[in-house]
Amino acid sequence: MPVARALPGYLEWQLTACAGVESASGISECQQEWKALRILLSQQELEEGVGTLARRIQQCYGDSPLTIVGVLTGSIVLLADVIRQLEMPLRVGVVQASSYQGTQRGVLTINADLMPDIRGRDVLLVDDILDSGHTLARVVALTRELGPRSVRSAVLLRKTGRQQTDLEPEFICFDIPDEFVVGYGLDYRDAYRNLSYVAALEPEDLAGAGA
Ligand code: IMP
Ligand code: MG
Repeated sequence: MPVARALPGYLEWQLTACAGVESASGISECQQEWKALRILLSQQELEEGVGTLARRIQQCYGDSPLTIVGVLTGSIVLLADVIRQLEMPLRVGVVQASSYQGTQRGVLTINADLMPDIRGRDVLLVDDILDSGHTLARVVALTRELGPRSVRSAVLLRKTGRQQTDLEPEFICFDIPDEFVVGYGLDYRDAYRNLSYVAALEPEDLAGAGA
């Protein structure tokens, strides 16, 4: 059993990593590790930021019908929170984009099978975080090919000094330092998405390349 560290200003959170190997009992072998989380954005700050985002979206589109498309999986919490604050004709869809393995960018794959028909419609893409910008830039380009009237994008977080594309989302809730963050939809090895706050993982807690 790992020993929980007690660091001032940190929360401890247990990460369960399953090896995917079936034991004799038929249950996957899982290992538990403790990770120290440093809160960057509290639940209240997130609520305020998302409220401001909703007001700005409402001002931008007025009463025009809007299709909001969440980029899976990281946008799910933001998507659920923001749509419930919008009082306008709204359709909701999703598109899946995945490129990360642990903290490293890998090959980007996009699955638009769940994208609703957006021809002639105003579309707002919603994603969790703008890091290099490659993922959202590709999703925006793919969305434009489907014949919408307009495409804009919104992100919860933008990492400072990391962008490698010209894409600038029209709506950004928070700028954050260049750290690996989890919570409010964002994951590390598929864990922590359920945290109601955004926290940074310490570099020494992130497994090396390919994690
Ligand atoms: P980009 O293509 O480099 O902009 O990366 C975008 C995607 O990488 C995001 O939608 C996230 O899923 C993931 N990502 C980037 N930075 C982080 C992070 O700090 N924590 C968790 N996921 C991240
Ligand atoms: Mg994502």
